Amino acid sequence: MIADKGPILEVEDLRTQFSLPQGTVRSVDGASLSVAQGETVGIVGESGCGKSVLLRSILRIVPRPGKVVDGAIRWRRKDDTVVDLATLPGDGREIRMIRGGEIAMIFQEPMSSLSPVHTIGDQIVEAIMLRGNTTPEQAWVRAVETLARVAMPRPEMIARQYPHELSGGMRQRAMIAMALSCDPRLLMADEPTTALDVTTQAQILALMRRLQREAGMAILFVTHDLGVVAQMTERVVVMYLGKVVEAGPVGDIFAAPLHPYTHALLHSIPRFGLRQKGERLAAIPGSIPDPYSVPRGCAFHARCRFDDKRRCRSEVPALREIAPGRMVRCHRAEELGLSGMSMPEPSPALAHP
Ligand SMILES: Nc1ncnc2c1ncn2[C@@H]1O[C@H](COP(=O)(O)OP(=O)(O)O)[C@@H](O)[C@H]1O
Ligand SMILES: [Mg+2]
Repeated sequence: MIADKGPILEVEDLRTQFSLPQGTVRSVDGASLSVAQGETVGIVGESGCGKSVLLRSILRIVPRPGKVVDGAIRWRRKDDTVVDLATLPGDGREIRMIRGGEIAMIFQEPMSSLSPVHTIGDQIVEAIMLRGNTTPEQAWVRAVETLARVAMPRPEMIARQYPHELSGGMRQRAMIAMALSCDPRLLMADEPTTALDVTTQAQILALMRRLQREAGMAILFVTHDLGVVAQMTERVVVMYLGKVVEAGPVGDIFAAPLHPYTHALLHSIPRFGLRQKGERLAAIPGSIPDPYSVPRGCAFHARCRFDDKRRCRSEVPALREIAPGRMVRCHRAEELGLSGMSMPEPSPALAHP
């Protein structure tokens, strides 16, 4: 669903590379996606496909020697002007104001954004004061309010505590509170619940859904859990080896995937209940190619049941729209018409919200 004004974020053909002595890793190698105001978009794909580097590229916080080398990251600011984050100086004033103030990011490991030597309250106060002209007293009141907003019990007390005094779930809430303290219009979440136990995971996901409804902010949600995608997101973007290979409304993709990789990914999900019974999961055949020597042609051809041994091995397929809102990067998509998949059952984490 594209809002009237168009997307707030539009990433086009983005490329981010790490030049290392062993060779060049093309971590993000032609990724395109868009996020409308208030929308939740999921990014899925196996480990190493470039999900984290993509989010970091958007905020321009790719660690050295990583570099955004090509493409556009169009961000629509509150006043409707559009700025290309890919071309901003990586540590300039404009990107620093957008980072945290307009686009916030939360991580799997809360300690990557929390300081161990400051109280939770002081850290949120600092984030607020960096961006608004508020007094320390006003900022403290807002910090406590923000902790209450993320359903933190006894927020005044928690504000005076250090991260190590909190449980993993509480730390995750504190990190979310810090991310929300500046009212971002886009929250990027990188596997925010992967390290949590099932019950806490369900609580955090429910919290994120509530906050999004209340604040109307957009969420770009990275996960490898397709059950979470089905519950949390409206549209999904599937990545393979740095490229977007499929994108579309979550229900359509789960009902009728168009790319053989998406099809394989959906077949590899444990059906709810099977895991307990110890049944084997279908794995995607083959392994992810070495990032230094990505195959010619379609990067998935060596693992694909539908490799035509000709074009699939020589020509990189383009990402194209083959039905309204359905994007796919496969030479044979029309011909294959992959389908017959049904929505996966909710992931166990979501069984008891
Ligand atoms: N700091 C880094 N230095 C070198 N290569 C990296 C670095 N970070 C990520 N990469 C490489 O970029 C690719 C994408 O990584 P990443 O975005 O972390 O994957 P994902 O989040 O999808 O699991 C991988 O091949 C990874 O090895
Ligand atoms: Mg990652």
